[in-house]
Amino acid sequence: MDAESTALVPPPGCPAHGTGARIPLYGPEFAADPHAYYDYMRQFGATTPVELAPGVEATLVTDHSAALQMLQDPTSFRKDARRWRALKEGHIPADSPVLPLLAYRPNALFSDGVEHLRLRQAITDSLAKVDSRRLTQRTQQISDYLIAQFGSRGSADLVGEYAKQLPLFVFTELFGCPADIGDRILFGISGMFDGINAGKAVEVLFQATADLVALKRAKPGDDVASWLMKHEAGLSDEEMVYQLAVVIGPGAEPLRNLLGNTLHRLLTHDQYAHKGGLISDALDDTLWGNPPLTNFLPHYAATDMEFAGTKLKAGDLVMVSIAAANNDRTLAAARQSGSNRAHLSFSAGPHACPSREPARHITVTAIENLLNQLPDVELAVPSDSLTWRPGPFSRSLTALPTRFTPVETVRGSAASKSRQEAPAREEAQSSPRKVERTGLWSSFLSWLAK
Ligand code: HEM
Repeated sequence: MDAESTALVPPPGCPAHGTGARIPLYGPEFAADPHAYYDYMRQFGATTPVELAPGVEATLVTDHSAALQMLQDPTSFRKDARRWRALKEGHIPADSPVLPLLAYRPNALFSDGVEHLRLRQAITDSLAKVDSRRLTQRTQQISDYLIAQFGSRGSADLVGEYAKQLPLFVFTELFGCPADIGDRILFGISGMFDGINAGKAVEVLFQATADLVALKRAKPGDDVASWLMKHEAGLSDEEMVYQLAVVIGPGAEPLRNLLGNTLHRLLTHDQYAHKGGLISDALDDTLWGNPPLTNFLPHYAATDMEFAGTKLKAGDLVMVSIAAANNDRTLAAARQSGSNRAHLSFSAGPHACPSREPARHITVTAIENLLNQLPDVELAVPSDSLTWRPGPFSRSLTALPTRFTPVETVRGSAASKSRQEAPAREEAQSSPRKVERTGLWSSFLSWLAK
């Protein structure tokens, strides 16, 4: 920290106030106004010492060019969390809420070098086979189904009842899940991200994914899980389970937030109401200003080193504040010129998100369909009463209460019928016993089959 920083005033309520302690990225004060914290931190230089949760320390990069330098230097900064010195030395509480997302798993996100290339290639090749027309149709069907659950009510929480649900359904569909496995996968992921009985949720998710792998080995289909299995990388069953989890993990949570935060922007900023092409404008503005992942991209220093004016020891955890880096003053020109490559919302370098286009596509399709069906949807509460989930990694609303003119259920509507495609219907019809169950995925299959 430079000498001038002593004159700076920490954000109101910041527990580090006057103590010289690390800046905490958790708790209600940070969730209420993270940009006040970023403004404060940015003035210390390119990096700031932070605390992700009680007892979990990290160095946070807030400067855009320092962040790029780190992301594009896989020799000096590694992704394998088994290098994490504080964890190895027993300084991280075993029940820390940040461990489920940071602890090592044998997948692309936590791999380096040749092993990373092998795992990533298998994922990108399999995701590349997803036909964008099919993705649009399935996203619309899922969107129709979710709207049908609340449309006649005239009100809905568009985070809890829409943004949170839709990505999970999309992934379950892409993986070619039958009803019972889909129900367990949806249950497992929802529980994991909600932090409710997370241990049980993880157990259910991994068992369901293992069952899906066994099923696809026996009976491959036309889906991402089967393509991943057939890939020349020759993934073992265990690797398959972890790769499927890494597609859902970094996929579902940020997709939920991208959808929720873009809906929030559309409903709270008048400027979009008067412009053509409004959804993609709102989506880009969200990626710049209110990114789904805010402080993430964990890396570990490979050796003792000096980086951006800070001394790091081998195994130190270094993260990027995507939200702070995107709002770096040096990027103002790129942002104004409409360039969407410079922001770090999908990261950069070898671990950059391989799905930025599908993610945009799903989000735009889901919002378009919602606005077509509920054209007068509006916020049902004052915008300043909305609250954000606490936590260092993501930015997402706790709820987005809305109201609209009630609509008849869209089940069986002309639009929905014309979109119905064979495989999901066939599966629903060929497993009549399964679709009578009451899980989320079986309810959807059952609705689709009507
Ligand atoms: C279709 C939905 C998505 C899928 C399937 C997906 C998949 C993935 C995968 C497999 C990775 C790991 C890449 C690697 O380690 O080599 C990844 C990384 C990442 N994704 Fe996505 N993603 C999706 C949506 C999103 C969205 C909406 C965002 C946010 C705008 C996002 C942001 C990121 C970021 C920041 C990383 C880097 C994480 C890190 O290095 O720690 N992704 N994604």
